Amino acid sequence: MKIEKFKMQYYDEIVELWRRTGIGVGSSDTKDEVAAVLARNPNLFLIGKEDGKVLAGVIGTFDGRRGYVHHLAVDPDYQKMGYGKMIMDELIELFRNLKVHKLHLFIEKTNRNVVEFYNKLGWEIRDDLVMMSYVPNKELYKRNI
Ligand SMILES: CC(C)(COP(=O)(O)OP(=O)(O)OC[C@H]1O[C@@H](n2cnc3c(N)ncnc32)[C@H](O)[C@@H]1OP(=O)(O)O)[C@@H](O)C(=O)NCCC(=O)NCCS
Repeated sequence: MKIEKFKMQYYDEIVELWRRTGIGVGSSDTKDEVAAVLARNPNLFLIGKEDGKVLAGVIGTFDGRRGYVHHLAVDPDYQKMGYGKMIMDELIELFRNLKVHKLHLFIEKTNRNVVEFYNKLGWEIRDDLVMMSYVPNKELYKRNI
């Protein structure tokens, strides 16, 4: 698998990959919103391709203080082949080069089994925090589209 920077030409393919891997596609995943996140983080959104097909993807973002990992996905037909680790290693190297101090990611409790995957990559569960969210634009936010 060859890792590349995501480009908007792969938008439809990446959305299909997210849907196939059970990643919730919400109002932050429309073409305009994905273009916006890409514009703010042009080098941190990665895809993995083989024979021209997108098999893996991950969105990295950096807010100037912390780095975040969103929507990590590997095509179900290609899981447990090391591709998830490969694309995460590449993203972490990019964050390392940006001198980011700490990264966060969020796992839905219904998807707890991926904790073991992240543990193997050196991530640790935080049990000293409670995550809270707020929706400032109720007319914009939709969990699933
Ligand atoms: C999570 C995910 C990206 C892992 O990708 P992958 O390509 O299968 O992972 P890898 O093959 O690189 O696995 C690396 C290691 O983690 C282990 N691993 C992978 N998935 C695992 C799982 N669900 N449970 C336990 N261990 C797992 C592998 O066995 C491997 O272990 P090893 O180094 O001892 O051999 C993939 O399962 C996926 O796309 N899941 C659906 C989407 C999702 O839940 N994304 C995360 C959102 S937070």
